[in-house]
Amino acid sequence: MQGSFPTTRPRRNRRDSWTRRLVAEHRLSVDDLIWPIFIRDGAGLPEEVPSMPEVLRVGLDRLVDHVGPAVELGIPAIALFPATPAGLKDAEGTESGNPENLICRAARLLKETFPDLGLIGDVALDPYTDHGHDGVLRPAAGGLYVDNDASLEILVRQALNQTEAGIDVVAPSDMMDGRVGAIRRALDEHGHVHTRIMSYAAKYASAFYGPFRDAVGSGGALKGDKKTYQMDPANSDEALREVAMDLAEGADMVMVKPGMPYLDIIRRVKDEFRVPTFAYQVSGEYAMLMGAIRNGWLDRDRVVLEALMAFRRAGCDGVLTYFALDAARRLKAG
Ligand code: PBG
Repeated sequence: MQGSFPTTRPRRNRRDSWTRRLVAEHRLSVDDLIWPIFIRDGAGLPEEVPSMPEVLRVGLDRLVDHVGPAVELGIPAIALFPATPAGLKDAEGTESGNPENLICRAARLLKETFPDLGLIGDVALDPYTDHGHDGVLRPAAGGLYVDNDASLEILVRQALNQTEAGIDVVAPSDMMDGRVGAIRRALDEHGHVHTRIMSYAAKYASAFYGPFRDAVGSGGALKGDKKTYQMDPANSDEALREVAMDLAEGADMVMVKPGMPYLDIIRRVKDEFRVPTFAYQVSGEYAMLMGAIRNGWLDRDRVVLEALMAFRRAGCDGVLTYFALDAARRLKAG
């Protein structure tokens, strides 16, 4: 039982750096970091994403140089996202199944260069569709609707395509029902029993994805919102049902997204399931922090690691973060 003042003084353990280190309950290490990377078509200088300062879209000719420092620092895995040229987008997201698409070319190159780096491939159609939705649209009562079962077939093809190019972890971010099971069955039928699935299990219909949609170019044409498939920010129990379904369908790791505004969900998921749990500190969270840092309103040297530590405290095993390289350097420097 906790004693009372003045016998007990909680500040005693905070007095010196060495006691603070001894009693620290959580640690953040480079092993907890996943770095999302945007790949663009064409060669030459990387382009900065305007709403994400310091985040670059990189062509294949510069990709190895871009990723090298992450490998040297010991970051276990990166997540790849394509900025598909507009001319290659269509209503069905056909380019997602092309073995020569940006992700597949990047995966082959990176596997060959860095065989021990984990490669995560996002599975969803929004970077490939001209309407910006994560699935395909079909006429329904009341207009076009993102059709679940028709989307599954295309997502399965996309997952197989990425796996055959060397992606180690497929990460369905589309929020269609049943996609984890459909992908698992297809992977196994094709002998890819070791390919892991990290499901975006509890993914909310969030305003915090805006800068990402600028980065991959999926936002411009997006009609309406994603509320018929992504979760309502008002819901919490539903996240547990989503996670339970994805685990039953074969997910190896689950993710909550966005991150910082949803730390309560992470904690509930970890307590309930005790499985490898990840969070995505999304583009809007990054933009928010960088905006304040660049204005001199927040101290970068302190806020980056504090924000990431919050995920560990909430129960995360790891975090997808655009700060991964920055954080890894800070952790290394101590
Ligand atoms: C695509 C996808 C999105 C993100 C990751 N995968 C955007 C969306 O659902 O519109 C967001 C990542 C971020 O904001 O950093 N399905």
